[in-house]
Amino acid sequence: MALVPRKIRALDPYQAGKPIEEVKREYGIEHVIKLASNENPQGPPQSAIAAANAALSSCHRYPDPSGYALRTKLAERFRVKLENVIHGAGSEGIMSTIMRTFLLDDDEIITAAGSFIGFRVLAEAAGNIVHWVNMKDYRYDLAAMAEQINDYTKIIYIANPDNPTGSHVTTAEFDEFMTHVPDRVLVILDEAYFEYAQATSDYPDSMHYRYDNVITLRTFSKVYGLAGLRVGYGFAHETLIGNLFKVKLPFEMSIPAQAAALAALDDDAYLQRSLDINRAGMALYEKTFTDWGIRYVPSVTNFITIVFDAPEVATDFSQKMLKEGVIVRPLGGFRQPNCVRITIGLSEENNFCLKAMENVLKDR
Ligand SMILES: Cc1ncc(COP(=O)(O)O)c(C=O)c1O
Repeated sequence: MALVPRKIRALDPYQAGKPIEEVKREYGIEHVIKLASNENPQGPPQSAIAAANAALSSCHRYPDPSGYALRTKLAERFRVKLENVIHGAGSEGIMSTIMRTFLLDDDEIITAAGSFIGFRVLAEAAGNIVHWVNMKDYRYDLAAMAEQINDYTKIIYIANPDNPTGSHVTTAEFDEFMTHVPDRVLVILDEAYFEYAQATSDYPDSMHYRYDNVITLRTFSKVYGLAGLRVGYGFAHETLIGNLFKVKLPFEMSIPAQAAALAALDDDAYLQRSLDINRAGMALYEKTFTDWGIRYVPSVTNFITIVFDAPEVATDFSQKMLKEGVIVRPLGGFRQPNCVRITIGLSEENNFCLKAMENVLKDR
């Protein structure tokens, strides 16, 4: 249809992980687990459910567009001013606002090929020139990205840690990279998996820096178990935040979502359990894959990515896992066609997944 711009016609529709019910129906099996979308396997925090429920009684009102209570709490927690904090419908919601706020037609974007699909969709929909820089050994190649900076560069996107590889940019790499970035270029540091990566000694926590041209994005979708409520936040210089607020959809974060996030932030026990479950699961996968001689990318997140020899092998593996009742994520859509991503689950889910893998791989 002529009314649809070419750049939009050219987009691939987003393909989410298959829903559990669909796999049950398709394969006629009862027990199906989903380890495909990097969600928190614990379920949401009870504290957040209670807060969201209570907040529903005010949902005839519009949400507070300033997100005052949540932003204040985040500002206190991370020792910044209220003016340095923005909230939005997931970190992707804020990413979308960033693109609409700062990008002009001639502006160019630099990021890694095969990184987070959500950013790729936004970049392609914007229609600006994007320099997709190949990763090296499933890691961002910041030196190669720095070489792409030119007079038109406006936005550089770095997912740290990355999804779908789980790898991270180190402090030394980030410091060196920033020496090449002019002040007029905005660096988006997407730290959706920050809480999992934080303990890694060479992981650069962007809040230790105070660059005026860096925006840090974080989320309640992962370690805080609130993916379905769409709660994200960002930190940046007050001028950037002030302008983002002019463009952001004013009521973007709903009343129950704001209330749930506030409660989740106080739920240290939930956070700790999330991290403990993840650490144990990750250790199990790493050990098993090493024992089995399966190639994987070392990950500081809540998922682990396996590397196969060829795209067909990866697709075949994912299909066979479905028949075993395990939904994993083949990464063709992420432009990593040799890879399959597995989200760390609860202990029983991880055991079920490894048993299924054993069945699938012994047939090869
Ligand atoms: C790197 C990265 N950024 C952002 C997101 C999206 O987070 P949100 O749910 O806050 O939009 C994800 C979710 O998978 C992600 O992996």
